[in-house]
This record gives sequence, structure tokens and C-alpha cells, in this order.
Amino acid sequence: PRQVERGTGGALTVAGLDVRELAAEYGTPAYVLDEDDLRSRARDFRAAFPDVDVYYAGKAFLCRAVVRMIAEEGLHLDVCSGGELATALSAGMPAERIGFHGNNKSVAELTRALDAGVGRIILDSFTEIDRLTALARERGVRPGVLIRVTVGVEAHTHEFIATAHEDQKFGFSLAGGAAAAAAFTVIDEGVLDLRGLHSHIGSQIFDTSGFEVSARRVLALQAQIRDARGVELPELDLGGGFGIAYTTQDDPATPDELAKRLRKIVDSECAAENLSVPHLSIEPGRAIVGPAVFTLYEVGTVKDVDGLRTYVSVDGGMSDNIRTALYDASYSATLAGRASTAEPLLARVVGKHCESGDIVVKDEFLPADVQPGDLVAVPGTGAYCRSMASNYNHVPRPPVVAVRDGQARLIVRRETEEDLLALDVG
Ligand code: LLP
Repeated sequence: PRQVERGTGGALTVAGLDVRELAAEYGTPAYVLDEDDLRSRARDFRAAFPDVDVYYAGKAFLCRAVVRMIAEEGLHLDVCSGGELATALSAGMPAERIGFHGNNKSVAELTRALDAGVGRIILDSFTEIDRLTALARERGVRPGVLIRVTVGVEAHTHEFIATAHEDQKFGFSLAGGAAAAAAFTVIDEGVLDLRGLHSHIGSQIFDTSGFEVSARRVLALQAQIRDARGVELPELDLGGGFGIAYTTQDDPATPDELAKRLRKIVDSECAAENLSVPHLSIEPGRAIVGPAVFTLYEVGTVKDVDGLRTYVSVDGGMSDNIRTALYDASYSATLAGRASTAEPLLARVVGKHCESGDIVVKDEFLPADVQPGDLVAVPGTGAYCRSMASNYNHVPRPPVVAVRDGQARLIVRRETEEDLLALDVG
């Protein structure tokens, strides 16, 4: 969050609120969302991409309050499941501003999207083309669709979150001709309203050349479709994936820099192919919500392991942030409830779960007097932490507390043991 400072006694404050008071009121662990920060990131994207539709990727983090913030800031919303769609609709997101993704949308999910009047559905397989065509025919509707193209770009990110190389489950392959065949099928059947092509090359990407290569390749396909069928598709979605700084080593491009580069490549490619420039959209998730949140934990134990390393155990862990264990992600941690002049100590911040891979922050210097009862904040946890949280070891998932102008409000409450037991009907 942008509004973090050190206040009285050296405790962190966010939006004017002392973290010790937040911990007392809402308990720990808790995700603390700086609402102005999220809104200003949404605005930065809107300002950098003024004539582009910015679809916030709800998979990064979604709840009703965030849907409303996003809607108020003029963004669109990308959902990728019936659950995300239900959340968006229940928060009043206009259906025409929703895009629906997924490689295996069920008949029930597609039906729900059609009935709600979702603005566009991103097609991911021939099975889905058939499925949606049949549903649209039955209902006499003509939904807007995009074709997700696998452009064959090697994005420099973790293997599990790269999506544009050939050998993975998403989209229609460009090189193999499937993408062109999918476009021809949709155009020739004439039931679905093919609005354009879509590509998403992966997530947490810093090297923008991947986006440029991808834009060039989808536009070449756009030209091929025009030459073969005489239609110029009016839209183009370049996906999300813009990296954020988790530690001081990361140096992400700003929305302005991204916009400039994407615009340049689209303009020059369109000129080269003699295409009119399509209406663009993008789908940032992490870059909007990631930096706006920190997780507040309380230290439970401090253990020196044979002089090798000090393990600082907090009251959450891989159930509220699986990213370190899953992607070897790097985070930082800071003593949040007080200042300390003690020597720095190389520590590992770990959780309370029953496996040794339960690491939140691999290496961090914390003051040597860190002790049970201290508060620790881990920044940059807005994206894919609450949204991938689990109940591993029957640990209830933490709440999300939004702070703004010296006021805190609970937007997702803490899960309780009763919540967990309510599902257990045996
Ligand atoms: N559009 C599509 C089609 C996507 O699949 C994704 C992310 C996005 C947009 C948003 O990407 P972003 O701007 O947030 O990078 N769980 C992983 C990330 C998975 C991303 C999945 N798709 C993680 O924690 O890093």
C-alpha cells in the first residue's frame, strides 16, 4: 500500500490506522487492503490506456466490495468460473462489462452467462464452440465471443503461470492452425458474434517483448482471417500478466510504459498488414490488487535451529499464502507493531502448518529481538493469496479489512470453525 508509514512507537500505520489497533479489532492473520491504493492503480491503468477496455482479472482477488470499487473506477471485469460470475453479478457489475474465461466452462456456467447477458465469452476449445453454439441457437441469442489464441511465446516466468507456449491446456494453437480454423468455424456458422482474438502469455512478466511478439502474431492472424473471409475483427485483447515488485530487486514497467509499447507495436503491425486498428482490451489482475494489500500476522514462536537459521513462526502460512511454496515466490516481511534498534537477524518466516515447506518468506532480516506477540507485515499479498487460500489443517481463512481515510471496514469476514464444520455433514 502507498499509505504505509511508521507512527507512534514505530508501529506501522496504513491510511492513518495503527496496525496494532487493526490487529486488536480484527485479529490476525488478516489481509489489510488499502482502498485508495487499489483505486489509484485502477485509475493509473485507465489513464494510461484511455481508449482501451481494462478488464480487472478477478481471479487475483474478488469479493463484492472489490467488484464495486472496480466498477466505480470504470473498469470491466474478467471472471473465469461460475462462482466469480455470481460474485460479480451479485455486486451489481453490469453484465455487458463482464468477460468470461476458462478452458472448461460447463453447460451450466455458459447458460448462466448467456442468461445474464455477459458481454463476451472467450472461447477456448472446439468442444466449447459447439457447446456455446448449441446453447445460443436454443435461446435465439448471439453472444459476443473472442478466440483465445496460443501464440507460442515463451514468457519468462514460472512454468505454472506461463500460458502461451504450445504445450499447455489453454487456447487454440496459432502455429498448428487451430486458431484460424476456430475463427473460420465461428464465422461460417454465423451463430456467435466473433468480436476478436485474445492472447494472454502468462503472469508476473517483466520483459515486455513477450507482449510485443504476441501482439504481432495475433495481428498477423487477424490479417489472415480478413484475407480468407473478408472480415476485419473489431476487437483485440492482449491479456494481463504485468509483473509487480515483490522485493526491491523487481523493477516492473509502469502502466504508461506498457501502454506506449503496446500501442506502438499494434499501430505499426496494423499499418504493415493494412488493417484498421482494433479496439483494444487488457486484463491486469495482479498489477491492480497485488501491491494494495499486506498480510498482518502475529509471531507465535521464535526458534534458533542449531545456529543455522532463526525460524519465526506466524499464525498463518501456506493456507493464506501458498505462493512461496508453489512458485518459489519471494516476499519480504517487516516488524510491524513497534520499532527496534536490535541488530538485524537473518530469519525465515514460516507458518503453522504441518509441513516444512510452509514458508512465507524465505530469507528476511528481522530485528534480533523479534519475539512472540510481535506483529509482522508481509506486503504485496493482494493477488492470488486470499484467492488461492485453503483450509489446510482446518485453519479458517483470514478476513479482508479495507482501510481508507482513517476508517477500517470488514469486507470479507474471518472464516470460523463453525463455517468449516457446516460443510461436514457426515
Ligand atoms: N487474463 C487471463 C486470461 C489470465 O489467465 C490471467 C491470469 C489474467 C488475465 C491476469 O493475470 P495477472 O495480470 O494477474 O498476472 N496463481 C498465479 C497466477 C495465475 C494467473 C492465472 N491467469 C500466481 O499466484 O502467481
